[in-house]
Amino acid sequence: MDKFIIEGKTPLQGTIPISGSKNAALPLMAAALLSENAVTLSNIPRLKDIFTFNNVLRVTGARVDFHENTNTLTIDPTNVHFLEAPYDLVRKMRASFYMLGALLGKYGEAKVSLPGGCAWGPRPVDLHIEGLKALGAKIRIENGYVYANTPNGRLIGGNITLNPSSVGATVNILLGAVLAKGTSVIKNAAMEPDVVSLCNFLIEMGAEIKGVGTSELTINGVKELRGSTFRNSPDRIETGTWMIAANMHPESKIKLTNCNTKELGMFYKIFSSVTGEMEITDDTISIQAPESIPAYSITTEIYPGFPTDLQAQWATMMTQADGKSTVTDTIYNDRFSYIPELTRLGANIEFKQNRAIIRGATPLTGASVMSTDLRASVSLVMAAMAAEGQSEVLRIYHLDRGYEQMEQKLNAVGARITRALSEENY
Ligand code: UD1
Repeated sequence: MDKFIIEGKTPLQGTIPISGSKNAALPLMAAALLSENAVTLSNIPRLKDIFTFNNVLRVTGARVDFHENTNTLTIDPTNVHFLEAPYDLVRKMRASFYMLGALLGKYGEAKVSLPGGCAWGPRPVDLHIEGLKALGAKIRIENGYVYANTPNGRLIGGNITLNPSSVGATVNILLGAVLAKGTSVIKNAAMEPDVVSLCNFLIEMGAEIKGVGTSELTINGVKELRGSTFRNSPDRIETGTWMIAANMHPESKIKLTNCNTKELGMFYKIFSSVTGEMEITDDTISIQAPESIPAYSITTEIYPGFPTDLQAQWATMMTQADGKSTVTDTIYNDRFSYIPELTRLGANIEFKQNRAIIRGATPLTGASVMSTDLRASVSLVMAAMAAEGQSEVLRIYHLDRGYEQMEQKLNAVGARITRALSEENY
């Protein structure tokens, strides 16, 4: 297992190119199965989760060629014959559950492992299943697997209201509905950019979807979809992560390139209240960190509200802000595993229900820390870069799942991060 050894404190100065989004790429990859012929996706990040999903697709018989030097992925579903997503792969990555909607939608049959628990508490899939049932799927759950089929080999149009709004359920239902017979309506659909990008890709392939970007999607099923070439979105969470990281050191001055600044939603506005100077174009953001950071409380919301995937990073920055602030997560109540680890570095944070209460600014000093999920892990790296002395961040395999070439990107702008072998016993 690898770990990071990080020397602090280091300001970040220079340019960081933003990679393609992992969370936006995975639905596109599942959608490729719906096509009659090969599809090509560009701006796909070289991340563990992408490699895992490539293997999930290959199990079905799809041909998957990842041209890593150009971040381009070609998926040819012509020879798909094994309609299953096995536990061994699904347990590594929840989004493999998108295979349910894709296989059912195209082939009328699927056997997909239930994803199981998650590092930050239960993450149900009831809405995915109810949604596909509303499209006529017959579903039973046995021995940890979802067995699904359709009476006539094809799903039929249906109406579904999601409560709460769910990105994953919206994706799975869309994947099922685009080739269904008749019209489907998804109410309270997720409006996240990842869903918008999936809709745009499906439309390119020949799907008929109305209401893209709104909370009500109307899908007229079509007979078949054709191969297409599509560019994956830049990672808005990576963009937000490096904006926050840079803001934590008063001498930081960075420019982020290859972004899509229109997809930042409320985060952009909120961030502008705590930063120094900021300049923005459609695809770049330049930030000059402030002399001192004001305390600023946030609550996570569905898009365009403050994303749950940036709350741990925000709380980390708030340890360096002047005064008391709170970070409340309304999407995932338990997503606070980073608190005891930040405390080890010197932060003053209390945890009550779904809220972190942070009192700053407290000086951070190097220590060994570890975490159980992706966004918590990146927060520990950020804290270590702002801490005096040497820190070790263990279990960085979480980071390899979601941040492309992280240490190379950060070291290029002044961080001092070394990857080393960890003697930790698991
Ligand atoms: C996706 C993202 C994840 C992000 C989350 C919220 C991917 C691969 N992951 O996860 O990084 O943190 O969106 O923006 O894109 N829910 C139900 N029943 C269901 C499904 C969800 O009750 O069947 C609830 C969840 O418990 C949660 C809320 O709906 O409280 C939103 O979850 P959802 O949008 O589905 O998250 P994911 O798609 O799993």
